[in-house]
Amino acid sequence: MQISVIGSGYVGLVAATCLAELGHDVVCVDSDSAKIAALNAGQTLIHEDCLQELLSRHRGTRLSFSTSIQEATRDAVVIFIAVGTPSADDGSVDLSCVESVAQSLNGSMNGYKVIVEKSTVPVYTSEWIQNALAPEGRAHNEFDVVSNPEFLREGTAVTDFLYPDRIVVGASTERAANIMREIYAPLIDGSYGQLPSAVPKPEKARLLPMYIETSPRSAELIKHASNAFLALKISFINAVASFCEAVGANIEEVCKGIGSDSRIGPEFLRAGIGYGGSCFPKDVAAFRAVTREFGFEFPLLDEIKRINEEQRIRFIRKVRGALRTIKGKRLAVLGLAFKDGTDDVRESPAIKVIEQLLQEKCQIIAFDPAAMDRARQMLGNRIRYAPDAYSAADGADALLILTEWKEFASLDLARIKRLLRSPIVLDGRNVFSQTEMAEAGLNYHSIGRPTLEVSQSLLKKGHIVR
Ligand SMILES: NC(=O)c1ccc[n+]([C@@H]2O[C@H](COP(=O)([O-])OP(=O)(O)OC[C@H]3O[C@@H](n4cnc5c(N)ncnc54)[C@H](O)[C@@H]3O)[C@@H](O)[C@H]2O)c1
Repeated sequence: MQISVIGSGYVGLVAATCLAELGHDVVCVDSDSAKIAALNAGQTLIHEDCLQELLSRHRGTRLSFSTSIQEATRDAVVIFIAVGTPSADDGSVDLSCVESVAQSLNGSMNGYKVIVEKSTVPVYTSEWIQNALAPEGRAHNEFDVVSNPEFLREGTAVTDFLYPDRIVVGASTERAANIMREIYAPLIDGSYGQLPSAVPKPEKARLLPMYIETSPRSAELIKHASNAFLALKISFINAVASFCEAVGANIEEVCKGIGSDSRIGPEFLRAGIGYGGSCFPKDVAAFRAVTREFGFEFPLLDEIKRINEEQRIRFIRKVRGALRTIKGKRLAVLGLAFKDGTDDVRESPAIKVIEQLLQEKCQIIAFDPAAMDRARQMLGNRIRYAPDAYSAADGADALLILTEWKEFASLDLARIKRLLRSPIVLDGRNVFSQTEMAEAGLNYHSIGRPTLEVSQSLLKKGHIVR
């Protein structure tokens, strides 16, 4: 299938590369000529597992890059729109990038095409695109607009795309629905995973995805409702974690108890400093805005956001409590990305915590395995950057863990203790167990778990102190 993907960001680049991996001929377009030049020059641009390998496999054969929508869509039967849909000031979705793509497509329709919304957009956007493409007198049967929301998670984007839980397709004609089934056929029937060259299936991934066909409006709504529900799960468990702190319970024990109920499940029940990234904050706001636009009040969505913001404030309070005064203190920060496995720092809770600590005149020295360059673009030289976790900890008044990178969990804690000026660790992601912190003799403050003080841990070495 001849496909073009418009937008070469986290979603567009992964989708374009994976569609090439499924055997399609793909042209990926971006209006940012520097990005396209870099992609043409062999760079990967984003930190994402398996992406570099697949790009090398298909670049120049099944996958090419261009800055021209007209050129890229001339031969394409299917056009995926994967441009950004950021928040406008009032929380609603700024659809200007999608609109600009629709305007460019107006000049490139030379036969039947399927236009696929891959970007996250509010309900009714498919009709809106349809209308944007129709005014030039074009007959509706020359194109169909399909909603095919993307559920990949940064950090595991490639395997999420190739081994999804579900593929949701909202098409209003059988012709468009058939084309979409054909595109995803190797995933729907599992034949992709049987190929010797296939990216290996993650252990927990489904053998076959659910293929869910809906109306375009339902598909659009599924995406917003899914992200709002995931954000709700995070805020819910964070609120429970705060209550655990108030009554001396342990959120990990509580989560184990809650998550073992098959109706709830253990995923996404991790307390921390809240959600961030380019999706949850904007999608919760967008869902709220669109429900309000249609006269439906959904205040639960405001509460999800409020709890999330409060979570960071509570963490700063914890830092202040642990250090007594924080003005002028040197703080080592581990983690800048909004989550592990990615270099994305958009709406990163780590960056927000750092901004607050800078306002309180702290000195920050930070390390992240992948997001240092992008964080530098945001924070500049207002903080210092360390080459590794140990250099960051060297001489610091406390160590703060703000992203749940797996590599942090295997740090040599005895070495960290020797390097720190005071043996204080504030873990905003509950990366460590209390037992190992007790054994290392570190003062340990985490989320929803009792604080561990050095004197107690020395007395009860090897035991979780309550
Ligand atoms: N990042 C995620 O994890 C994720 C997951 C699921 C869905 N989404 C959704 O996918 C969409 C894209 O997200 P992203 O994270 O890839 O964004 P991004 O900002 O990384 O990439 C968007 C790209 O679109 C390009 N672009 C903008 N206007 C253009 C135009 N008129 N013509 C050509 N290119 C244009 C930009 O230059 C940029 O490279 C959003 O709607 C987002 O909500 C994102």
